[in-house]
Amino acid sequence: MNPEIIAKLQGIVGVSYVFTDEETRNSYGHDETEDLVFPPQVVVKPASAAEISAIVILANEYTIPVVPIGGRTGLSGGALSIHGGIALSTERLNRILEIDEKNLQVITEPAVITQILQDTVLEKGLFYPVDPSSRGSCFIGGNVAENAGGARAVKYGVTKDYVLNLEVVLPTGEIIWTGANTLKNSTGYNLTQLLVGSEGTLGIITKIVLKLLPKNHHNVLMLVPFFKAGEACEAVSAIFRAGIVPSALEFMERDAIDWTLRFIDGINVPVKETIEAHLLIEVDGNYPDILFAEAEKIMQVLESFEIDEILFADSDDQKNALWKMRRGVAEAVKANSVYKEEDTVVPRYELPRLLEGIKIIGAKYGFQSVCYGHAGDGNLHVNIIKGAMTDENWKTEVPKGIREIFELTVALKGTLSGEHGIGYVQKNYMDIAFSDKQLLLMKGIKTLFDPNNILNPGKIFPDTL
Ligand code: LAC
Ligand code: ZN
Repeated sequence: MNPEIIAKLQGIVGVSYVFTDEETRNSYGHDETEDLVFPPQVVVKPASAAEISAIVILANEYTIPVVPIGGRTGLSGGALSIHGGIALSTERLNRILEIDEKNLQVITEPAVITQILQDTVLEKGLFYPVDPSSRGSCFIGGNVAENAGGARAVKYGVTKDYVLNLEVVLPTGEIIWTGANTLKNSTGYNLTQLLVGSEGTLGIITKIVLKLLPKNHHNVLMLVPFFKAGEACEAVSAIFRAGIVPSALEFMERDAIDWTLRFIDGINVPVKETIEAHLLIEVDGNYPDILFAEAEKIMQVLESFEIDEILFADSDDQKNALWKMRRGVAEAVKANSVYKEEDTVVPRYELPRLLEGIKIIGAKYGFQSVCYGHAGDGNLHVNIIKGAMTDENWKTEVPKGIREIFELTVALKGTLSGEHGIGYVQKNYMDIAFSDKQLLLMKGIKTLFDPNNILNPGKIFPDTL
């Protein structure tokens, strides 16, 4: 990169926060998406919204892409510097600014690790329910940018349901607040929610106001083995139709559990040969009696399916072990083989049709898929495994199969991504979910915010648009 630009960046953030060495550029050139690496030309680590604004203004002057970088745990390639340019890491904006116990709100900077945020508010008796599997390393800012979900979304909603207000540096450098710190807001267009899930294309988030809940005190967790994976999917909507809203309802195909148990030490869950899938079901609340009654009701629903013995987690240790197993699936699959992860979501009753269709499509194109995810939300993570597949087939056949999977998803009234975003790897499938008119409306918004296409270019929109 032009030394003049580097010098100007150093002038903005200080010499010690500008990096051009190969190691740093490679390290900031990937997130958790497949094995993709797109190093930026320079990594900068600003300390304030004002510094971010100055960087963005400079980038406009020289027409250089700026890619906002959070915890680099993304699964759709949103943080990849596909056109080089400036990787703007938010990592120094890492303070929780205020816990407002009177209003049950927290004001935080973007680079706070989600689990730290959860634990810190919990000490005050408050609950931030959104719980992505990567909570130990992802940033809350990235959660907002991707509208992250996780296992508790089924009862408590996703990130968007907690974001009240955002301070944002616009791609043109102005610093704005998007809304108000209120639980309700019918005042003009909802800029806050437009920014949520905008995948670093409309602004760089520098402060976040989140709604919190009072913490609840009890939960019951059970692992249910099913002889047929399709029946596990059918049981999901049956539980809701029986009047129960679990706080988590997760599906794991057999391979997902097997690979994870092999990958993570110290978890002992017996899985019989004849079991095809599991549901991990949690109910939570303040009154144990009610939770036990709900668990009973769930067991009644499950009686109409072919299941094996249910494992009830009877200690915190066992609960933690089961959640550690569930959270570890993505990493375990990744450790096993090169893979592609899709984040399909359908109305929950359609889940059995989705799973069945995925297997048929896999057989047609010759790939194995390992499926797991937030079944209560109808959100199935489809891991397509390279395994012994030839490079040629991986390149030519798999994208055709993915296209068919997305076509099926949309035919079932679902869509491409429930919580991982579109980013880089799914953008050329957007035509399946949206017409040109719909995409042009979105693109028009992008252009209005970012006339020079500086901020995270080459994401979300298909190359052909
Ligand atoms: C999960 C991540 C991959 O559900 O979304 O584990
Ligand atoms: Zn997930």
